[in-house]
Amino acid sequence: MLVFDLVKEWSHVMEKYTVGVIIGSLSKDSINRKLARALLRLAPSELEFREIRIDALPLYNHDLDENFPRAAREFKQDMDEVDAVLIVTPEYNRSIPGALKNAIDWSSRPREHKSFEHKPTAMIGASSGALGTVVAQQHLRAMLSFLNTPVMTFPEGYIQMKPGLVTDDGDVTVETTLEFLRMYMNEFYKFIDREVRSFQPQQEVMIESMEEKA
Ligand SMILES: Cc1cc2nc3c(=O)[nH]c(=O)nc-3n(C[C@H](O)[C@H](O)[C@H](O)COP(=O)(O)O)c2cc1C
Repeated sequence: MLVFDLVKEWSHVMEKYTVGVIIGSLSKDSINRKLARALLRLAPSELEFREIRIDALPLYNHDLDENFPRAAREFKQDMDEVDAVLIVTPEYNRSIPGALKNAIDWSSRPREHKSFEHKPTAMIGASSGALGTVVAQQHLRAMLSFLNTPVMTFPEGYIQMKPGLVTDDGDVTVETTLEFLRMYMNEFYKFIDREVRSFQPQQEVMIESMEEKA
């Protein structure tokens, strides 16, 4: 069997990916943290999650570019260690919360090491209002586009968090929402898989040249 056939056979195996979860809210009672809990429970088992915290980051200041504070170094290290990112965020005053913008600013420096560049990312948000964070997510898309981030475009997730919709443990009590969130995470898995594979062209060129020599 040629190397290329072997690779094709392996490609049917479901890859595992590690996803960093960024919660845009710093509140301990955050409805977005609750939503994140629900999403993790409904995700395919091939996805593993770890939270990337943004609450210890000082306010970004480019005077510190030459000497990043420890919290910022750790944040960028956390970003480097994951295959993909899931942002679960509220909307504050028709945009993203300042804490999330601050984290994105740190992520974007130094210029030659932008943490979101080529990192498959999905966003979803919960709001007490009916618009469910739609404006914040449009702003977030624009920022990530500037940072050369592949962002999942479909499905979009705008959740109006009515009382009891998600329990503190992350159980979703409304069947249609539960099915939507499950579908969202399945699509996220497929998106990550597509992005990661499409980013390995060099490997395929190498395999093809090995085949030619065989
Ligand atoms: C400062 C502030 C601004 C807000 N602005 C918006 C807004 O623009 N759109 C919206 O849908 N909800 C807005 N809300 C209401 C939030 O949806 C609600 O407080 C939600 O619980 C925040 O998410 P969290 O619990 O995850 O922090 C705002 C809340 C705060 C505290």
